[in-house]
Formats: sequence, structure tokens, C-alpha cells
Amino acid sequence: MKILLATQKPFSSVAVNQLKELAQAKHELVIFEKYKEQSDLEEAVKDADALIVRSDKVTAEVVNAATNLKIVVRAGAGYDNVDLQSCSERNIVVMNTPGQNSNAVAELSLGLMIYLARNTFLPGTGSELKGKKLGIHAYGNVGKLVAGLAKGFGMEVSAFDPFVDDSVLIDDGVVPVKSVNELYSDNDVISINIPAIPSTIKSINKDILENLKKSVILINTARKEVIDEIDLLNAMRKNPGIKYGTDVMPDSHEKMKEFGMRYFATPKKMGAETEEANINAAVAALNQIIDFFETGNEKFRVNK
Ligand code: 3PG
Repeated sequence: MKILLATQKPFSSVAVNQLKELAQAKHELVIFEKYKEQSDLEEAVKDADALIVRSDKVTAEVVNAATNLKIVVRAGAGYDNVDLQSCSERNIVVMNTPGQNSNAVAELSLGLMIYLARNTFLPGTGSELKGKKLGIHAYGNVGKLVAGLAKGFGMEVSAFDPFVDDSVLIDDGVVPVKSVNELYSDNDVISINIPAIPSTIKSINKDILENLKKSVILINTARKEVIDEIDLLNAMRKNPGIKYGTDVMPDSHEKMKEFGMRYFATPKKMGAETEEANINAAVAALNQIIDFFETGNEKFRVNK
């Protein structure tokens, strides 16, 4: 089978070499990195049986161009970059690799918290995380790891996740919160870890942002789309105590710069950019494809 690894933002060479070793003899692995245009991806995918991507856009055009395609694996957690409907119409299986890069994202969340609490390391007095209240928005793989790390820093941790049983949080020493509004209005630091799906797009809007504490750090290592940026700009103008750290550069980046050390965005999405996360996610993706071709295993399928 021909497996195309299409990564505009490449995995580390160590991770790619591990993929080459894993694929050898059984499958043809084609490495297609740092491409510039969507049309380049449409061309490259033409005769592929399987596709591994990161945040690369698997649009209807890509799916239509890939006449042999049977499986797409998003080597990572969020699959909002994959046109699930187009894949399902052709009975192409779509999978992700949940949990494989979560630790890297969680560590970055804590890094961003410290960076903003210390005023982006500019001269002046910052604050500590110890003793502060952290609210985690969604207790999935990343949220759970953020909770563990934050407790190590001596933070008081609570979380809101309607899909996770309270007992899971309580077992982890995390206080369950009953509503999003309560989570955002009652904490000194908020970690946003929700996926970008229709119900969450722009869901963090003025109703929530106008009721934040006088001093609060928002950390977004999820997706830019989940925040209403106009509402965030307005809230930050009204409340000078709001700081925003994000691993997903907002569309309003230029405007956000007016907030100086109250705002920081990574230039590229950096959450999963560790050697360990690259290896974990890439190897898991290829193993899932090999297993799918050999046994039909669809354990991590996200479309029907
Ligand atoms: C994910 O959804 O897994 C993360 O956002 C990482 O995305 P990336 O592989 O494009 O860096």
C-alpha cells in the first residue's frame, strides 16, 4: 500500500526515520513535507491508499483527488482540519491518535501560564501560580494532564466537562464545576482545552468574558476558533487585568499586540512540537494504518 505522510509542518527527522523503519518492506511510505499550496497536496495524494497528516487541510478537493484513498489518520488530537463528510461519502476511514501529543500540549499550557504571570519576563513584579485557582475547560487527555502539572505547582484545580463523570475529577483531586460561566468567573487562571466543533466555535464570547475576575490569565492551547475574538478584544480593553496566552495565533493578532505584555501568541502552533510528541503521534498513526490494512481495526475511527 502507498502511505503518504503529508506534513506542511514536518515531524522531526527522528520521528520520520522511525516511520521509515516501521513501514519498510510492508508498505511504500512517501514523505511529502513543507508543501506550499493545497494544489500540491491534491497532486501528491492522487495514488495514495493512506494519508497521515498533522493540521494539514484534508478538504473535499483533496479527498476527491485521492481516488485510491481508504484511510486518513490525523497524527494528533483535533481533526477539525479533515472534511469528515467527504471522507464518509467515499467510506474513507478517518482516525486520530488521541493522547499521543497531550503531554507536550499540557506542558506548554503551564509554560504559557508562567510566562504571562511573570509579565513575559519583562522587568517588573509578576505573580506566582502557587495558591491560584485554575479552571480547566474540558477534562480530556490534555485537561487531565494540565490538572496534574498545576497541582504540582500548588494550584487549586477545578474543571468543567459535561461529558466526564464527576467521580473521575474527584478521584484526581479536581473540583467539578457545574457551568462554563462559573468556571470562567471564579478562577485566576483558565486553561482552554475544548475541541473546535460547531457547538464550541466562538462559544467563549462576551457572556463569559465580561464576567471574568479582575485579574485573570486565559490560556488557549486548543483552537483560535473557540474564542470570539471581537468579544475578547473588547473584554481586554474594559478589564486591564485580563491576560491572554495562546498557542494558536488569533486572526486579530495585530490588534492584540496593543495589550503588550498582557498578550502572547506563539508564531506557529507549538503545542505538539516536541521530539517525544512527534514520535508518539507519528508512530501511532502509522501503526493504526498498518493494523487497519492487516486486521481491519477501526478503534480510533472518528467518522461513520
Ligand atoms: C492536535 O490537535 O493534535 C494539536 O493541535 C497539534 O497539532 P499539530 O500536529 O498540527 O502541531
